[in-house]
Amino acid sequence: MHKKGFIFDLDGVIVDTAKYHFLAWKKLASSLDIDFTEEENEQLKGVSRVRSLEKILSWGNKTISEDKFKKLMSDKNEDYLSYIAKMDESEILPDVPKILDYLIVNSQPIALGSASKNARIILERVDLKKKFDAIVDGNDVSKAKPDPEVFLIAAKLLDIEPKNCIVFEDSVAGVTAANTANMISIGIGSEDVLGHADYIFKDFTEISEEFLQKLINN
Ligand code: BG6
Ligand code: MG
Repeated sequence: MHKKGFIFDLDGVIVDTAKYHFLAWKKLASSLDIDFTEEENEQLKGVSRVRSLEKILSWGNKTISEDKFKKLMSDKNEDYLSYIAKMDESEILPDVPKILDYLIVNSQPIALGSASKNARIILERVDLKKKFDAIVDGNDVSKAKPDPEVFLIAAKLLDIEPKNCIVFEDSVAGVTAANTANMISIGIGSEDVLGHADYIFKDFTEISEEFLQKLINN
């Protein structure tokens, strides 16, 4: 029996939380009189909380004190958590449970590889935590995506060599991280944004069992 390591990003891949990150950053940017576009938001996907705020400040040409920086980070997270608190299973993206169950039935190890420090709470809220053999999140890494650290730790926990791991990602930084880790990258989203992925699908409804079987057997 072939075993591959299947590693999933969380935000924008398993659950539709990317929109909540966007709303929370947009509110923060407006409070600083910084214009924040959807294109800029694309560059924040997969990027850590600290790095995201640094980028927004640099786009708006703002410098702030360390204390103010900490306050803004905590305000953003509080705002984000208020959205998360209302989440339930209906916010799992289409066909995600079906894909996870197919991999489980076929005895394939599954890990989460997320930049978010809120990953565990979210998986619990949508009742998917039990489907994962390993969870690596923003609390476990010292280097954020596009650094491959998060996926390399996940591979180690699954005890699968990086070249036998497959990563599902919706972000530019995450696909780069998977490629750098020498893993197979599967972009979930649009070709314009994720052109550097090995395979691209609009969402999981486009991924067939035959395709998964091919990944397992190759
Ligand atoms: C990533 C998101 O998964 O997690 C980013 O794509 C987010 O938008 C990052 O900034 C960190 O998340 P959190 O929950 O720790 O602020
Ligand atoms: Mg993501």
